[in-house]
Amino acid sequence: MTATTDQLAPAVQKLARRVFAGEPLFRPSRLGVWDAQLASLQGSGEPIDADAQAQAAHGRAAGRSQGPTEEEALAATAQDFLVVDTDAVGEWPAPADVFPRLTWGGQLLLVARDRERLEQVAKRYDRHDCFDLETPPTPARRGLKVWVPRRHYALIRRVTLLAPGQHTDRSTFDVRLVRDPRLGPGYVVRKQVPTHRRVAGRLHERYPDATADLLLARATKLVNKVFPVFLTREAGFLQVLAKELPPEYRQRVPQALGMEKAADGTVKRLYMTWLRMDRAPMDQLDFALQATELLSVVHDVAKVIHLDLRLDNMVISDGEVCFIDFGSSVQVGENVARNPMLHSLFEEMMNTSQIQRTMGRMKDTGRLTSDVLLSAHGKMDRAVDMFYLSLQITHPVTNPELRHLIQYKKGGVVATAIKELVAQILRPPDPERPQYISAADVHRGLQGLASGKAKGKGKGSRRGRKIRRAEPAPTAR
Ligand SMILES: Nc1ncnc2c1ncn2[C@@H]1O[C@H](COP(=O)(O)OP(=O)(O)OP(=O)(O)O)[C@@H](O)[C@H]1O
Ligand SMILES: [Mg+2]
Repeated sequence: MTATTDQLAPAVQKLARRVFAGEPLFRPSRLGVWDAQLASLQGSGEPIDADAQAQAAHGRAAGRSQGPTEEEALAATAQDFLVVDTDAVGEWPAPADVFPRLTWGGQLLLVARDRERLEQVAKRYDRHDCFDLETPPTPARRGLKVWVPRRHYALIRRVTLLAPGQHTDRSTFDVRLVRDPRLGPGYVVRKQVPTHRRVAGRLHERYPDATADLLLARATKLVNKVFPVFLTREAGFLQVLAKELPPEYRQRVPQALGMEKAADGTVKRLYMTWLRMDRAPMDQLDFALQATELLSVVHDVAKVIHLDLRLDNMVISDGEVCFIDFGSSVQVGENVARNPMLHSLFEEMMNTSQIQRTMGRMKDTGRLTSDVLLSAHGKMDRAVDMFYLSLQITHPVTNPELRHLIQYKKGGVVATAIKELVAQILRPPDPERPQYISAADVHRGLQGLASGKAKGKGKGSRRGRKIRRAEPAPTAR
């Protein structure tokens, strides 16, 4: 048996539509229905991305050291809107069961005739760290059948990225959705330095043989010294971007809404706009065009180098590709060596980051020959972003939340054309005179593909230009 919205009592359907009406992403077809018989969730309309689920389940997501967990496989099919008619299914789903079935920011509508029980269960969600009780138990409007016991409902939102005790390689900070009328209506993102416990737990998973003392010492340094520096820098970069980006690009990065500082002046909490992930998929070429255009503006107009352009740090919101997580960014021309602490942090980042390691591997195996990219290895250089974004647009599957939003068909016409273009970027015919030396060049190359021009020879490309070698680190260029 499959539960669909059609199987909900008409009054519950009506209630769900009314409660979710103000949510920009809501469509009746996107309403998930809790089905006790399957002890699981059934999407009512849009097909579940079986491919994404299989990919997640089998751990083939590129760049991942370990296969995804069961939760991650579930997350690939999580819903934004979920309704449980407890009278019909005879079940009150527990927070731990609901968590993986909702997206981050997704909402659960609990409907019941038993007001008292609803109050108890709602309280349980409210006390749970991962949820926010958005609408406490409220009587539903009664129809004409006044002799039927009144229904009540409560609306609950998932606000954390991770379940308690869960760790991920994909992000570090404690990021959650919060409501604060001083910051405006609705939910905003709060990014804060994680606790010692959480950091030590994550380190333990990564280095199971390390002693507890060592892990604690390392966690203490990260929490007290390292993370606050990066969060403080991120707050600063969001302000730079808000000021320097042309108005039409400002919505494509988070806007800082407020911050809380520690006694030493570093930012310990940063509040920013929530760029909520879309549901409607976008074509791979459109994704590539938008991402490279945004990068060229971030580089050439705002003069900011992101340095961590993994797909985990991109969202597609309101039909637009957006960049987040500017914590590792530098300003073009910034000399981080002026501050010894910053110098050592960036040096360590350069030695350990996934992007730099990928660059090193590709350099060693001859898969990267472009002079402009090779000379950026180990440096804070715009070309690092250009390099990594080129890889991401070729194979946009490593972020499970983004994956089903980008139509990617391996071996298809678009995927092949982009792959060929990126091959020209990484291994140009004349490595000393690469055609693509900036994000703007890559964008123009893609525009060439989009308009059916000869591949990689988009208008305005700088074929034949001799590349100046990069300045020595640590000045960002
Ligand atoms: N403003 C935002 N809008 C939408 N989603 C966001 C926003 N900020 C954070 N996120 C989500 O939270 C996740 C983690 O946030 P973020 O990337 O800023 O921190 P982080 O990855 O923990 O930092 P680091 O890269 O230093 O580990 C993102 O991958 C994204 O899914
Ligand atoms: Mg991140």
